[in-house]
Amino acid sequence: MNKSPKRVVICLGRSCRKYNSQKVLAAFKQNQDLLAEIELDTVKCLGQCGNGPMVSIEPDGVWYSQVRPKEVPLVIEQHLIGQSPVREMLYPKFHSKK
Ligand code: FES
Repeated sequence: MNKSPKRVVICLGRSCRKYNSQKVLAAFKQNQDLLAEIELDTVKCLGQCGNGPMVSIEPDGVWYSQVRPKEVPLVIEQHLIGQSPVREMLYPKFHSKK
């Protein structure tokens, strides 16, 4: 896992907003004290509409789909702090479940 500073990209496009991506963003912001070295960013579309809310973690190249606000603390603890992606939340189109 890449240990350089991470960037969390949250899609706030129309499709993802329909699935509450604003609440996902709010959940990350709520935990910002844990995220001192992490950059939060939003985009208008990640090109994966219909699978949202989509969140990508750079530079790890890890994508999460259908992210629920209550899952955000797990992403923070396990992936952003613990350096281990949350397998069960990975976007299956980009990450095979082997
Ligand atoms: S609106 Fe989020 S992937 Fe397109």
